[in-house]
Formats: sequence, structure tokens, C-alpha cells
Amino acid sequence: MGPFVAVQALWLFLPAYCANMAPVFAAKIFPGWKRPMDGGRVWRDGRRVFGPHKTWRGLWSGALVGAGVAWAQSGIRFTSWDLSDFGAQDAAWVPTILGFALGLGAGVGDAAKSFAKRRAGREGGTSWVPFDQLDFVLGGLLLALAAATLVDAAGLTSRNWFAAEFLGPRWPILLVLLLATPLLHFVVNVVGYKLGLKKVPW
Ligand code: CTP
Ligand code: MG
Repeated sequence: MGPFVAVQALWLFLPAYCANMAPVFAAKIFPGWKRPMDGGRVWRDGRRVFGPHKTWRGLWSGALVGAGVAWAQSGIRFTSWDLSDFGAQDAAWVPTILGFALGLGAGVGDAAKSFAKRRAGREGGTSWVPFDQLDFVLGGLLLALAAATLVDAAGLTSRNWFAAEFLGPRWPILLVLLLATPLLHFVVNVVGYKLGLKKVPW
């Protein structure tokens, strides 16, 4: 794997990184479409289930962006999103499905974090290190694993894409994602704040 492991990890996870930024842009483009995922409901503790900032718009925008980015990446031959050696030569929709799962998982992880954050009594928009930084990584990995396993069981791939790319001898990829993502997250959020896209620099 060598020194390219970091580049490999970032390339492999690019759909999830883009998916995690998508809700902020979607909020700018479709400000009126803000139906919250919890439907305004409160939990037993009297606090919102997820909070007003977790919208369906944000969740699905992430899934669509994840799908689109993976689809575009799959066209670049001999890189990890070109799934030719997984028996998916003519099926660009296999990487597209996996990118969709990665993006949706990023949003599900983010919402699960918000659920725990509300239970911990923390308001939306406050910082909660390292959960705000890693929620979408864990959610993305989990749903990508599920999707790759389903796609493989359905005979659409010749071997499990997730296992081949993230597990076994490829474990340093996971290590890079867990260590580098919080740093990347801080940089991207400060830039987003300076550009006026985000209300807070985290
Ligand atoms: N967003 C959204 N729907 C989602 C996730 C995010 O509409 N499912 C939008 C919201 O406008 C939100 C912004 O993206 O304010 C930033 O998202 P995030 O930082 O994840 O939300 P927080 O306000 O920090 O909420 P929490 O404390 O629950 O993480
Ligand atoms: Mg946040």
C-alpha cells in the first residue's frame, strides 16, 4: 500500500465527504424545504428526537450526491471506484448504488449522532468532539458494508467490494479515515464558515 494509502483512503471515501457537505448546500438552494426528520416530535426527556437541523432534504441530498460522485469516479479507469475487477464492467450503477449507500449512511450516522447529542442535552449547532467529526464516517462505512454485501449476495459483483477495499490487508485505509477525517473536517468547516456557508466554524 505504501505512502499512497492516504490518497487511496480519501479517493475511496470522497462520495461520503461530498455527501456530508451536501446538506449545507441543499439548505442554501432549497431553504423552504425543511421538513425535519423527527417531524417535530420530542423524546421522553422533553427534547427533540433529532432537532430542527436534521431534515429529509439534508439526508437525501447526501445520498444523491454520494451516488453522483461515485458514478463520476467509476468512469476513471484503474482507480478504486472503477469496479471492472469486481465483475461489474458494464454496470456503472453498481458503484452508483454503493456511493448512494455511502452517502445515505453518512446522513444516517449524522442523524444518529444528533439523537445521542440531544439525549446528552447538547443543542443543535454546538460542538461535540469527536462525534461531530466521525459520525458520518461510521455511518457511511456501515451502510456501505451492508450494500456491498447485498449487492454481492445478489450476484452483481464477483466478490465483496467492501471487504476487498476496506478490510484484511487494507485495514490502514480505515486507520487513515479515522485519523485524517477530524483534521479535514475542521479545515473544511472553517472554510465553510469564512465563506458564509455555515453559521459556526465547526
Ligand atoms: N442539514 C440538514 N439536514 C440534515 C443535516 C444537516 O438540513 N440531515 C443542514 C442544516 O441546515 C444544518 C446544517 O446542514 O444546520 C449543518 O449540519 P450539522 O452541522 O450536521 O447540524 P447541526 O446544526 O450541528 O446539528 P447537530 O448539533 O445535531 O449536529
Ligand atoms: Mg454540527
